[in-house]
Amino acid sequence: MAEVVIVENAAAAGALVADEIARLIAADPATVLGLATGSTPLPVYEALRSRLDGVDVSQVRGFALDEYVGIDPSHPESYRSVITREVVEPLGLDPSRIRVPDGRTEGIEHAGADYEAAIAAAGGVALQILGIGTDGHIGFNEPGSSFASSTRVKTLTEQTREDNARFFPSIDEVPMHCITQGLGTILRAKHLVLLAFGAGKAEAVAGAVEGPVTASLPGSAIQLHPHATVVVDEAAAAGLRYADYYRYTFANKPSWQGL
Ligand code: GLP
Repeated sequence: MAEVVIVENAAAAGALVADEIARLIAADPATVLGLATGSTPLPVYEALRSRLDGVDVSQVRGFALDEYVGIDPSHPESYRSVITREVVEPLGLDPSRIRVPDGRTEGIEHAGADYEAAIAAAGGVALQILGIGTDGHIGFNEPGSSFASSTRVKTLTEQTREDNARFFPSIDEVPMHCITQGLGTILRAKHLVLLAFGAGKAEAVAGAVEGPVTASLPGSAIQLHPHATVVVDEAAAAGLRYADYYRYTFANKPSWQGL
């Protein structure tokens, strides 16, 4: 099962995960990171700024989880723009080494296979950052997604479109389709780090960590991964049955083990 780390707040989670990413980059300057959008990973990127200050990050590579389909890459809410604004520019990464699935409709039929090939050619993702949707989705793998799925086009649920409407002038402008790494793609990363904050995520977190492994809750795929870490605040941990055990385990974690 995933290792659950319950932290005081989002900033503490950001510091913990940023330390691990900085350690990976120090060990391998060409580390391949799996990047996530959404508000949840922002404290990680924020904490990384100071840790990577003065570090040569010119070789670091990155693959975003997902993108909207039919949105111009220059649209401020395309995930290409979000990743550029929130990760690439502040951390000084080389934009040519950071890929986001191509959501343009022209060529969309082979965009998924192209993305899979690019990840494989890079040697796979070392650490994949994940958020989780209120319906338990990871990436944009909505309920019902196959655990064997690869990068492909999906239709967003009404719930996800409503959740993401805050980034657009109106819900009508939230794209209907997306291209997302599949659950199978995500499971191929060496280390999964899923973050969640706030009471609104408590149910999805409990289902992902302790519920049955089911395509109805795509986040539960992490239970199939040999090295998955779930970093949550108290509010997001509220539904976890074994929260005391997770606290006890983390407090007694051997220092040589790393995250
Ligand atoms: C979107 C993204 C997911 C993200 C989710 C939660 O749907 N495609 O990758 O995990 O939103 O977003 P937030 O972190 O803002 O709650």
